[in-house]
Amino acid sequence: MSKRPIIALLGGGQLGRMFIENALRYDVRVHVLDPDPQAPCAGIAHHFVTGDLQDERTVLEFAADADIIGIEIEHVNTAAMEELQRSGKRVIPDPRVLSTIQDKGLQKQFYRDNGIPTSEFELIDGPEAIEARKHLLPAFLKSRTGGYDGKGVMAIADVASASSAFPGPAVLEQRADIALELAVLVAVTDDGAHIVYDPVEMVFNPELNLVDHLRSPARIPAAVSQEASALGVRVAQAFQAPGLYAVELFLTKDGTLLVNETAPRAHNSGHHTIEACPSSQFDQLLRIYMGWPLGGTLLRGTAAMVNLIGEGGTGEVSLQGLTDVLHVPDTFVHLYGKRETRSGRKMGHVTVLGKDATELDQAISIIKLHCKVVPQEDRQEV
Ligand SMILES: Nc1ncnc2c1ncn2[C@@H]1O[C@H](COP(=O)(O)OP(=O)(O)OP(=O)(O)O)[C@@H](O)[C@H]1O
Ligand SMILES: [Mg+2]
Repeated sequence: MSKRPIIALLGGGQLGRMFIENALRYDVRVHVLDPDPQAPCAGIAHHFVTGDLQDERTVLEFAADADIIGIEIEHVNTAAMEELQRSGKRVIPDPRVLSTIQDKGLQKQFYRDNGIPTSEFELIDGPEAIEARKHLLPAFLKSRTGGYDGKGVMAIADVASASSAFPGPAVLEQRADIALELAVLVAVTDDGAHIVYDPVEMVFNPELNLVDHLRSPARIPAAVSQEASALGVRVAQAFQAPGLYAVELFLTKDGTLLVNETAPRAHNSGHHTIEACPSSQFDQLLRIYMGWPLGGTLLRGTAAMVNLIGEGGTGEVSLQGLTDVLHVPDTFVHLYGKRETRSGRKMGHVTVLGKDATELDQAISIIKLHCKVVPQEDRQEV
């Protein structure tokens, strides 16, 4: 490895942007590849290349002078990552792990093969296959590849509702009777040492099927929290490769924990760690890339993270209510620098730290009431 290593990051969205913010503290250089010339990393990467993450040659050329290759999105060319690994570069996540995770079918199979609890499922190729698997209904039908942020995921109650919009090779998955959705972030080093953050509770916006806000600690008994952490660690260790793993869990109404899916990268559910923990998820990832010791994960008090999701249509970004939010003690505003806002697009987030759950609830309400990202023509006086 050269004296001042270069990290080549595939994907230049908000996760990459927050990764760079932290990497700058250590004077580590980060190069970024993204198809959008105005991606959140474009103005801040040491070197930014516009190009297709799925194209093998583009990825190989982009990463040629790098020492370490990482991702901030799963939809990248794994053949290129394998090739880069063969040429002696450090590739995290391992391309083998990424191939499993990119395909929701292989991922579910992986949990089954490793005895990890997950909802019942079958892999199917067409809507006609559902008839014979009616015992799984009501179910979720998930495209095996290409989905993100709830796209490619469909709740189906009966055979007829699936036929109209069948997504191609799919996972048919029994619907879990969910009480809470949790996420557990685990960092694993080369020699298998690991640390885990406190589980976070994800509160969903049912219309957009996106995380509305999250809170940590989750409002669950200590025993369940410990069980969730242990399950997250089990999943991360089953992949047998260094990296940061965000394990999404369902806590069902009968108290069972099921693994939904895993992201082998920084995750929306870990943004609060920037201010709420000694070492953030981005710091942890950097430490893994560099082979440095892992950092501390102890949560300071209680924390919440409110996503700022674009509303009111498409246009240039206007943020409303910034000063109202900054009046609330211990709030931290993050804007991702996206040029264009669209309804449903993640534009930023606000983290707030509180003494207890009550204080946190008040702060969340204020943030949600005042802070909005809208197109500029809709701007009102603040
Ligand atoms: N088997 C299931 N039972 C009940 N709800 C489910 C099930 N599978 C998915 N869901 C719901 O749909 C949401 C999205 O599913 P999933 O996480 O698989 O999709 P995704 O597109 O990868 O999402 P994201 O990128 O937002 O994590 C889950 O967070 C959960 O609310
Ligand atoms: Mg998910």
